[in-house]
Amino acid sequence: MTDTPTMPTDMLTLDIGSPEFRKDAFERYKELNAKCPAHRAVITNGSGEGEQQGFFNRPVVLLTSYDAVNAGLLDPTVSVDFHKIMPPEMLEQLPPTAEEFRPLSRSVLTLDPPDHTRLRKLVQKSFTAGEIEKLRPRIRKIADDLLDAAIAAAEARGESAPNRRMELISQFAFPLPMTVISEMLGVPAADRENVRLWSENLLSAQRATPEQQEAIAQNIRDFIAYLKGLFDAKRANPQDDMISQLVQAEEDGDRLDEDELLSMVFILIVAGHITTVNLITNGVYALLTNPEQLAKLKADPNLVKNTVEETLRYYGPAETTTPRYATAQVELDGFTVMPGETMIAVLAAADRDPSRFSNPDAFDITREDAHRHVAFGKGLHVCLGAPLARLEGQVAFEAILDRMPDLALGVPADEITWQASFLRSLTALPLKF
Ligand code: HEM
Repeated sequence: MTDTPTMPTDMLTLDIGSPEFRKDAFERYKELNAKCPAHRAVITNGSGEGEQQGFFNRPVVLLTSYDAVNAGLLDPTVSVDFHKIMPPEMLEQLPPTAEEFRPLSRSVLTLDPPDHTRLRKLVQKSFTAGEIEKLRPRIRKIADDLLDAAIAAAEARGESAPNRRMELISQFAFPLPMTVISEMLGVPAADRENVRLWSENLLSAQRATPEQQEAIAQNIRDFIAYLKGLFDAKRANPQDDMISQLVQAEEDGDRLDEDELLSMVFILIVAGHITTVNLITNGVYALLTNPEQLAKLKADPNLVKNTVEETLRYYGPAETTTPRYATAQVELDGFTVMPGETMIAVLAAADRDPSRFSNPDAFDITREDAHRHVAFGKGLHVCLGAPLARLEGQVAFEAILDRMPDLALGVPADEITWQASFLRSLTALPLKF
């Protein structure tokens, strides 16, 4: 429990993904947490249309204190399935899901037990910390190859240390996790650029105008058609990869149906790279803008694990969770949520909550409780890929520091900007080395 007042708050209007909000997000979260652990708010998506779409433009409860976020994500009466809060007459009137979204509507993130349990079990064993640790040498090799390529490209331009240049996201932080998840799943190298474009276009759907919606729908149709073709190829010629295992999945007598298979592979591809790219980039940015922390890490490389945890706490890639729905009245850190309300857990606000983390706005790689962050969520839907993301982060920081001891920002810090997005991601990170 925080000792903050827990009176119901006024309805706020927030455009969380806008450039203006991103710039001062942590200040706003601090103000909100000083008032109350949760807030009734309308989230707009910048399109100015005011149209109700997903959780946009309708009242939701934002959980912002560390205790409210934890309690909300752990409460067994809180669901991820919006059908659970709809009265039967509304359910009957629901328009059928558009064909292009149907295969994506049955993912682990939108299902409660028992379907969630069945689906998650199918992939859980490939993501345990023990299984993931076996990938360490391969991930290091991928990281070294990418850094070799960046060094060669700089030298081919006639640059020399410490003034060689690279852009971290495009040359390293994006291709590293994308290559790793593609190899795990068995996505052929030749298709990876298309897969990247499809998943990036899809993310832009968050702030799309109605005119852009049709292009996005077509993008999803293309992605689905590609994945269906890939499943057929793996059925005909199974290999030692996760898609081959999933198409043949038969766990406790449960097969995946095709919609569930599509949703699963889709979420692994998208979640497998859009977040980890930001863990790597945000960590390098935090280290370079806090040189005393970088010096500590160089002096004691064993701090790399905690550097990953502190990056997740300080600049967690996922600012919020997906929506949650109250099927019953719940008290969350003293705030009463009524049945039928939609909640969004603001992980970034919880991880800067001064009642949980001392001096929360300091980036401190020796912080002993950094790992208590909620950057991977909590409860049944806690990130499946957390062991993989952690390992990729550690290997990335190690490889960069080993290979680029003179690393520095390539432009003044105030020229580096956050993207307008629900993910905490930089637009670019130019470096010198
Ligand atoms: C730093 C990197 C990552 C961050 C910050 C992150 C964050 C999250 C968060 C916050 C959730 C919970 C969302 C919610 O409760 O609504 C989640 C769920 C999930 N993540 Fe991650 N993630 C990362 C990397 C990965 C990777 C590498 C994979 C897979 C390859 C992955 C796969 C998933 C899946 C499948 C779920 C849904 C789990 C379920 O509903 O049971 N994530 N992630």
